[in-house]
Amino acid sequence: MSEQPRIEFYRHHLGEEEKAAVLAALDEPILTTGAATAAAERALAEYLGLPEVVCLDSCTAALHLALLALGIQPGDEVIVPAMTFTATANAVLMAGARPVFADVDPVTALLTPQTVARHVTAQTRAIIPVHLYGQLCDMIGLRALADRHGLKLIEDSAHCLEARHAGVRPGSHGDCACFSFYATKNITCGEGGALAARDPDLVARVRRLALHGMTTSAYERFGHRYRHWDMPQWGWKYNLDNIRAALLVPQVRRLDERWRRRQLLAERYEAGLTNVPGVTFPRVIARDASARHLFTIWVPPGRRDDVLAGLQDRGVGVAVNYRAVHLLEYYRRALGYTRGTLPVAESIGDRTVTLPLYPGLSETQVDRVTAAVAETVSCGGDGPGRSDGRRRGGVTVPLAAGLPARG
Ligand SMILES: Cc1ncc(COP(=O)(O)O)c(C=O)c1O
Repeated sequence: MSEQPRIEFYRHHLGEEEKAAVLAALDEPILTTGAATAAAERALAEYLGLPEVVCLDSCTAALHLALLALGIQPGDEVIVPAMTFTATANAVLMAGARPVFADVDPVTALLTPQTVARHVTAQTRAIIPVHLYGQLCDMIGLRALADRHGLKLIEDSAHCLEARHAGVRPGSHGDCACFSFYATKNITCGEGGALAARDPDLVARVRRLALHGMTTSAYERFGHRYRHWDMPQWGWKYNLDNIRAALLVPQVRRLDERWRRRQLLAERYEAGLTNVPGVTFPRVIARDASARHLFTIWVPPGRRDDVLAGLQDRGVGVAVNYRAVHLLEYYRRALGYTRGTLPVAESIGDRTVTLPLYPGLSETQVDRVTAAVAETVSCGGDGPGRSDGRRRGGVTVPLAAGLPARG
């Protein structure tokens, strides 16, 4: 249908500096975890203002090891939002514990102390708030709740390195924060992740669990005089190699510049979409509170799939971040979740469409996507201009949220 070039959903922004960093890593005698990984860890720790970071091969691995290193065991319950990527909950299963899904706030789509509190039981050991779309959760409220019940607090910060608001940053209030460098993230090395904590002992425990529970890494064994290693415990194989880590250092230097660019583009989307009937979007509570990782819109009930198709027909790359995790087949079958239990997450999950957002996107492209959304939402489905919301403080609050969803 579209004559214009396709607007990709995501395009990485790696350039000559990153290519040179990889070539330099290839010149080293050992390609696995070593000097380049250590440099990425230092750069990330400095950026986050935290004493230590360990790089791992995914955020899923970071979440898994965070749970283990914080003593979560089989039989324990861990509260996770129902509105997240499935990795948040899967990591709990990997640790042998039970994910307990909690609902989210209808305006921000984030887990809150209130939505978590009703799920705390004698078996609860931890909470994993997700800084969804890049926006920081209420970490002060969640820390207070966790402390009242003696719970660990693990931040799923896959979407958020950059945000800093009212004294809160990733890792500033949780026991640790877990990051993703997956292909579509704010910084990427294809597949990768990291864990940051204020407690260096926790990072040391994770570091060891990430390499079979061994006392020394290959780099330590071969870089100096050979040292025997022991294995005081068994662990996993989650370390990040030098080749991928080399891609991260130049990107950390440009994090804030690229964050500012995404802020501008996201605000342009918001300005353009505010008056499009039927389209709402999550509220960002303050400019510095969100890393602006994803720009999602919420469309009228029953319209999501035709809006997805309509946008693709108009040459716009789209995604869905996310459908409610507790309704995925496995969680229905294994944990008995049914529709109607977590109505806000279900409603958001049924109506979410993610639009392209990355620094290389132009203003003209944002305007083209905005026009395509307006056109697609106004035609088809239940008819032009249908709206399911009412305005409140710059966003439209979805009326469907908070009510049991259909089906
Ligand atoms: C919220 C969230 N948590 C965890 C993950 C897992 O990250 P990784 O792919 O690095 O394991 C992702 C990845 O998309 C995510 O979006």
